Amino acid sequence: MNNTPIINKLNDMKNSEIISFHVPGHKNGKIFDRLGYSDFKKNIVNIDTTEIPGTDNLHSPEEIIKESQEIAAKVFKSDHTFFLVNGTTCGIQAAIMSVCSLKDKIIVNRDCHQSVINTCILGDIEPVYVNPHIDKSSGISLGVSLRDIEMLIEEDEDIKAVLITSPTYYGINTDIKSISEYLHKKNKILIVDEAHGSHIGLSERLGVSAIQQGADISIQSTHKTLPCFTQASMLHVNSNKIDINRLKSFLRIVQSSSPSYIMMSSIEMAVEIYKYHGKELMKELISNIDRTKDYINNLKNIYLYDYKGNDITKMYIITKNLNRSGYEIEDILRKKYNIQVELSNPYGVLLICSIGNDNYDFEKLIQALEYIDNEIGDEDLLEIDYPNHIPQKALNPREAFYSNKKRIPIKEGIGKICAEYIIPYPPGISLLSPGEIITEEIIDYIQKCKRIGMNITGIEDQNLDFIKIID
Ligand SMILES: Cc1ncc(COP(=O)(O)O)c(C=O)c1O
Repeated sequence: MNNTPIINKLNDMKNSEIISFHVPGHKNGKIFDRLGYSDFKKNIVNIDTTEIPGTDNLHSPEEIIKESQEIAAKVFKSDHTFFLVNGTTCGIQAAIMSVCSLKDKIIVNRDCHQSVINTCILGDIEPVYVNPHIDKSSGISLGVSLRDIEMLIEEDEDIKAVLITSPTYYGINTDIKSISEYLHKKNKILIVDEAHGSHIGLSERLGVSAIQQGADISIQSTHKTLPCFTQASMLHVNSNKIDINRLKSFLRIVQSSSPSYIMMSSIEMAVEIYKYHGKELMKELISNIDRTKDYINNLKNIYLYDYKGNDITKMYIITKNLNRSGYEIEDILRKKYNIQVELSNPYGVLLICSIGNDNYDFEKLIQALEYIDNEIGDEDLLEIDYPNHIPQKALNPREAFYSNKKRIPIKEGIGKICAEYIIPYPPGISLLSPGEIITEEIIDYIQKCKRIGMNITGIEDQNLDFIKIID
């Protein structure tokens, strides 16, 4: 085929059998063969259908989809579970807009996923940011505390709800139980963006899910950490404070009117695997992770980021003692070892391990890390500190989004109100959002990071010479 660049590239990648330490959690589909579900994989085109007699309807399920969602609800211990075909993104949109009305306020962690701020733009909702604690040495967010939230609610009792990301991309868990107990006493609603936590519950070492810790709604990207196809997620509700009919109407608004049966089937398959094989596979995964961690702990230069209580299936390997950024290490791993990590940043690389990974993947990883530990760079690594200060909010994201904008040289933007997003991707968390004051610290940070390989989205000028401000 000549004019099929996507298909050609994906076929090349399939043939090169890349070892996946990135999402989706099925790791190139290997796990389906291993568990005897090869037919599911082979027949995928044949089950692509639409709403015809017998196939039910995601938007008003009464038959097979209803039954499958009920099975999932039992497995994930929720009152109601909804299958999502547009990722956790659409679950976040529906959850926030079903809980908040126009002009309502919602507390959100400042390092929330961009979909949260986008929802505030769509729904005319005011985000009240709670600043996470940042570990400057590794550039990652350590989450927010109950005290931070209590202070905001004491200041403003009008706040309607709270949205917390837990676990984070890097696997940092927040104490959802204490936050939910406090919020419920105050009659407020807790939504947890659990995009990175679908696998929680498969081992005592992973803790319990947000729903079991008292969240009213949680949204999980099943595709990220369980064997499921990209874009397939679930929204769980466990609360009598949620208006289910209102939630359903928002789900109808934010999801396709032709939801993919391939995706719904893949959620069902992930639920099946979670229920019947999950614990066994997780035990094997954890033993592979423990072995790899022991190995890394004996290396000279690279080390693992270790934070009390974090999700052990996320391995954040810090490479800065090698005088090499994570971007360089990602490149070496891919080109020399055929291993693809989830993301890299100035300090290291993040690997997402799932029950789809097998012994072979970890053998290969250990071989690669042994080599990399000796790959000292020739030049000192550029010191890049993660921005210390959270930008000040001058306008609501919605006001900023709909204002007149102009494009100016980026340095002249310092002190002005930003009209676009600046989002290092991955992880897709914005450093600057529309309506926030542009700081020198952020501009310096992104320019330095861009030079060493960071991918920045949101901002129109990819060279970072210009920025859009509110006119
Ligand atoms: C914390 C967080 N929330 C939400 C999302 C959106 O999830 P999805 O890709 O399933 O739409 C992501 C995606 O990376 C994320 O990292």
